[in-house]
Amino acid sequence: MAYVDTIKDMDVEALEREVITHNYHYWVRAQPVISDYDYDKLVEALKAKAPGSTVVEAVGMGGAIQNPDFRQRIADVVARHPVPADMEIGEKVQHDRPMLSLDKCYDEATLRKWYAKFEGDAVVSPKVDGVAVSIKYREGKLVLAATRGDGVTGEIITENVRQIVGLPLELDAQAIEVRGEAYMPDSIFEAEFKDQFANTRNLTAGGLKQKDPARTASYKLRFMAYDLTGERFETEVEKFKRLQALGFETVEPQLVTEENLQTSYDRILAIRDKLDYETDGIVYRTNRITEQERMGHTSHHPRYAIAYKFQGDSGVSTLRHIEWSVSRTGSINPVANVDPVELSGAMVGRASLHNLAIMEALGKDGVLYLGSKVVMMRRGGVIPHVESVSEHGTEPVVIPEVCPDCGAPTYRDRDVLMAHHTADCRIFQLRNLEHFISVVKADGFGAKIIAQLYDAGMLRGQADFFRLDPEKLETLERMGQRSAATLVANVQARRRLP
Ligand code: IVH
Repeated sequence: MAYVDTIKDMDVEALEREVITHNYHYWVRAQPVISDYDYDKLVEALKAKAPGSTVVEAVGMGGAIQNPDFRQRIADVVARHPVPADMEIGEKVQHDRPMLSLDKCYDEATLRKWYAKFEGDAVVSPKVDGVAVSIKYREGKLVLAATRGDGVTGEIITENVRQIVGLPLELDAQAIEVRGEAYMPDSIFEAEFKDQFANTRNLTAGGLKQKDPARTASYKLRFMAYDLTGERFETEVEKFKRLQALGFETVEPQLVTEENLQTSYDRILAIRDKLDYETDGIVYRTNRITEQERMGHTSHHPRYAIAYKFQGDSGVSTLRHIEWSVSRTGSINPVANVDPVELSGAMVGRASLHNLAIMEALGKDGVLYLGSKVVMMRRGGVIPHVESVSEHGTEPVVIPEVCPDCGAPTYRDRDVLMAHHTADCRIFQLRNLEHFISVVKADGFGAKIIAQLYDAGMLRGQADFFRLDPEKLETLERMGQRSAATLVANVQARRRLP
């Protein structure tokens, strides 16, 4: 039976109870269980039977909440319905309207065809390569946050989203939903995670799914808003201004007309490396909301938006060998050696496989095979990594039982291969020395010089950097008096750090 039929025979009291209950679902849980259409029908039915009902009076945004009588009755409903179990992290929740994907194109001609379909200009913004999140606010408070999931049903991550850096937990609005992209800034990734993890997107997804919100906080995630519902706007630009006024970080929207469709792309592409987030393209949206409504959407994407994706940064090659690389934390991570192939204009022969678990996941039934055809990608200019395997090879990769350098036995610690390296594990020591010098920011100490100093016995621990003697340094190959003095001065200048 359709919902409208179920309310036909209800008396005033039942209708009032029904309205209050659905107000509760909408306002308090931020999880409506009937459509806006059915809700309107319900209110109409009550209005017809009891125009003077306090419940009718209280209907409408805010009005309901401000009426004390109504508030009490909602509170009663709340008391009768304990907080639903589905408010826990990881539980499923249905989106009010689907979280769609974006249509995409790779050339100007397709973009122009899209632009010809509506009136007025378009708004462009960089496409943030993160994780889409929906956040609901009721009476100015953040009450519910969910992942996109399959677009129709997502997972509750409210407590974790509260850990996002700079996200407003309270704001000045009645009932809104804000959608956007949670992401990890490149600067955080570079400083804290890049040794161990594949990319910022996987980390963001992992951070949002933690069972313990305190762990989510350690990912230092941020949120870039790109959509707001619950309030009316004439244009996208207005919507962005409102999002900013509410305290959200947004991608900086730029208006474009037909003449500068391509140049807007070129401009963002040119500053791509300077942005503190990964971006894999540019999103174009029809500026006028009435035009957006006219255009509508398919089951997959809205017709009023399109992503013009950056291209040419993936390539296929054959996996020949796995190199096991010791990191400063002691993990031993796989690096793919492939037949050289051109990627974004450079020849590439090595690509990261990140860690043992990711390598296994890329293989067949948990085993990666040499001879496989691997697809490699370069995101935002960082070293390429293996994205997927398009054809499996035949010779299984052997996981080393000992550290390739010091021979310490390896063991598995969750996703990574580890070893308790010996004090004379050269690579482990070098990685630590390199890391130390990058943290204190002393100029002139590249990996080659550090290795040279280590091999000459001048550098065993971090403190030895400060004991370097210019005269001894001069005895090294290709080291002049001047450069020796400069190196020592550079490191001495970093003795005291802010
Ligand atoms: S506009 C689909 N603008 O990319 C609704 N989306 O791959 C209109 N995304 O589902 C979205 N940056 O989660 C828009 N500047 C941006 C975006 C953006 C990232 C996400 C969004 C979308 C996904 C599609």
